[in-house]
Amino acid sequence: MTERHMRRVVPLLDQRSSLPRTPDAAFLSNAKIIANGLLSDTRGRPLRDLRISVTDRCNFRCNYCMPKEVFDKDYSYLPHNALLTFEEVTRVAKVFVAHGVQKIRLTGGEPLLRKNIERLIEQLATLRTVEGLPLDLTLTTNGSLLARKATLLKTAGLQRVTVSLDGLDDAVFRSMNDVDFPVADVLAGIEAAQDAGLGPIKINMVVKRGTNEHEILPMARRFRGSGIVLRFIEYMDVGATNGWRMNEVLPSSEVVKLVHTELPLVQLEPSAPGETAERWGYANVSGKHDVAAGEIGVISSVTQAFCGDCNRARLSTEGKLYLCLFASRGYDLRSLIRAQASDADLASAIGHIWQNRGDQYSELRSAMAADNGNGQRRVEMSYIGG
Ligand code: GTP
Ligand code: 5AD
Ligand code: SF4
Ligand code: SF4
Repeated sequence: MTERHMRRVVPLLDQRSSLPRTPDAAFLSNAKIIANGLLSDTRGRPLRDLRISVTDRCNFRCNYCMPKEVFDKDYSYLPHNALLTFEEVTRVAKVFVAHGVQKIRLTGGEPLLRKNIERLIEQLATLRTVEGLPLDLTLTTNGSLLARKATLLKTAGLQRVTVSLDGLDDAVFRSMNDVDFPVADVLAGIEAAQDAGLGPIKINMVVKRGTNEHEILPMARRFRGSGIVLRFIEYMDVGATNGWRMNEVLPSSEVVKLVHTELPLVQLEPSAPGETAERWGYANVSGKHDVAAGEIGVISSVTQAFCGDCNRARLSTEGKLYLCLFASRGYDLRSLIRAQASDADLASAIGHIWQNRGDQYSELRSAMAADNGNGQRRVEMSYIGG
């Protein structure tokens, strides 16, 4: 049994309703001034990882994320002036970093669709952690524009990329992205990222039972020994549009069992606290980790929730702070910024919000209805980023 199996916690109370969604002057004067400094939420979890969504648009229509029937030509995306500017993003990010953030991930939608994204990367790359170290600066992409942009991104200061890839079979891949995008172009993007030095590269494969489970072994064979870490993700009930059903979830334990039958695995220690993935290394003949063959990861948000040490904050494209992937509402930091709040005000608001955080939605899933149990729709993954 892993540590994660033992960490399941029963819900007691949702404390989020006690804070205003738009931090205003009254909120700030009541908030304990926390200009800088390390934070801890109501469950003792630090703030380490900031995920910034830079666009709510995507050129793919993965059924589990942006189904065509919902995200059609009539769907209203955010207008340009609603988006945080690069300067605004960098300013907020700097405050988060002063509060202990060590990793920044750019997400979307598809982040490479945001015009001049490399300019934002250049700005974020100048930030330093509280310890004076460069950030772990990374980006999640569907890979469609990576062949074109890999070198530009590296030059701007991006350290690594994670590419979403749900299968190697062209027909399966085209049908999962639902825009008939060829797999060869994403593979070319991954190669370009490797050549540009954007590593260690990770590949995220969302596994849907009955859709792409037969791609698990081909994917494992393909990336074993490549230096790329392949991660299998349980299909989640995120958002309110993907028509999620439990019988389409293939538990990670089954994925591990399947890979292990052909390519023996040994479990590895976590590489960082609060990590999403459980790590499994390819074994050599003596049953020890064969480092050259590499490792895979499994992300078991459904069958083995990992909220217990979740240190991730999410900033939406329009500057709302979300404390959980499954949250219904975020805290409007854009209003604060555009009302000329000082850095100290921003730091104080963020500190107060984090210190009141109690979210643990994956752990509560079984007790929740699709509407979050409170009549409010959950945020979409394409809006907030994975
Ligand atoms: P690394 O730093 O490269 O290990 O990245 P990461 O695993 O922290 O981030 P990534 O965006 O690659 O996460 C992979 C997938 O895990 C996402 O696409 C989501 O499906 C899922 N995931 C990430 N964060 C969370 C989270 O906080 N809660 C839940 N339930 N799932 C998450
Ligand atoms: N379940 C699991 N992961 C998802 N993602 C998006 N929607 C889902 C879902 N329903 C993640 C995938 C994808 C990234 C952009 O977001 O990892 O690669
Ligand atoms: Fe786009 Fe990624 Fe969502 Fe697919 S999963 S629709 S590539 S944002
Ligand atoms: Fe964190 Fe929410 Fe995901 Fe749990 S469900 S790991 S609290 S983001």
